[in-house]
Amino acid sequence: MTRDAQPGTVYLVGAGPGNPDLLTVRALKLLQTADILLPDDLVSDEVLNLARPAVAIIPVGKRCGQPRITQAGIHELMLHNARAGKSVVRLKSGDPLVFGRVGEEIAALRAGGVPFEIVPGITAAFAVAATLKTPLTDRTSASKLILATAHHAAGKLSLTPSWTGAFPDESTLVIYMPGRDFATLSTSLITSGIAPQTPCVAVSKATTPDELATITTVGQIGSAEIGPAPVILLIGKAISLP
Ligand SMILES: C[S@@+](CC[C@H](N)C(=O)[O-])C[C@H]1O[C@@H](n2cnc3c(N)ncnc32)[C@H](O)[C@@H]1O
Repeated sequence: MTRDAQPGTVYLVGAGPGNPDLLTVRALKLLQTADILLPDDLVSDEVLNLARPAVAIIPVGKRCGQPRITQAGIHELMLHNARAGKSVVRLKSGDPLVFGRVGEEIAALRAGGVPFEIVPGITAAFAVAATLKTPLTDRTSASKLILATAHHAAGKLSLTPSWTGAFPDESTLVIYMPGRDFATLSTSLITSGIAPQTPCVAVSKATTPDELATITTVGQIGSAEIGPAPVILLIGKAISLP
């Protein structure tokens, strides 16, 4: 069986898309043995409820781009608690290495000389495809899988993501953090060369009891009824739904 969380160590752990059944065995073990949890907003209560009762939970999510805690503050919490001899689980939704500023956290841990481990999780793209029972690749129509985001870092020059070149032939495009302006996104995708009739599925709150999937096309997404955040888009001919 996998090792307990160790004193003085930070664990960057993927919590999966929400459903606790999708945690790894390693993640569960760390939840049950760590001293401190630092979860993002998207980590579900069902997952947090699996932690041992004595754990200290310090939420470190940043909603709607309005930080309640800065990224530097998160680094400080990880470093300070590990140096005080605590085992710290930094719990991130999905997989910790996908669209979660983990590069900055790894750099801070390395610079601080604090031992750390990374525990993969099921990223939203894979969880959504499983829940929809659709392949992401297909040997006749999708030999490439592209994980992209429509969200740009604050301070980046262009506020409108450019999709030109982002969708080569025979690929599936998954868009994390698509925002709520689906009409502009649709126009921008079509302008960059994606055919309007390309299948598109928007999934809100995947793997939770409130999951809502909207089946549409790239051309129609601006007028489709799409559920609340978090939402992810799957686009491409391989997305096959009944
Ligand atoms: C900051 S990114 C984090 C991604 C995460 N690290 C992963 O691997 O899934 C947050 C975005 O992931 C997607 N996402 C995460 N969980 C989701 C869920 N349960 N249902 C739909 N989309 C989800 C949404 O696009 C959301 O805006």
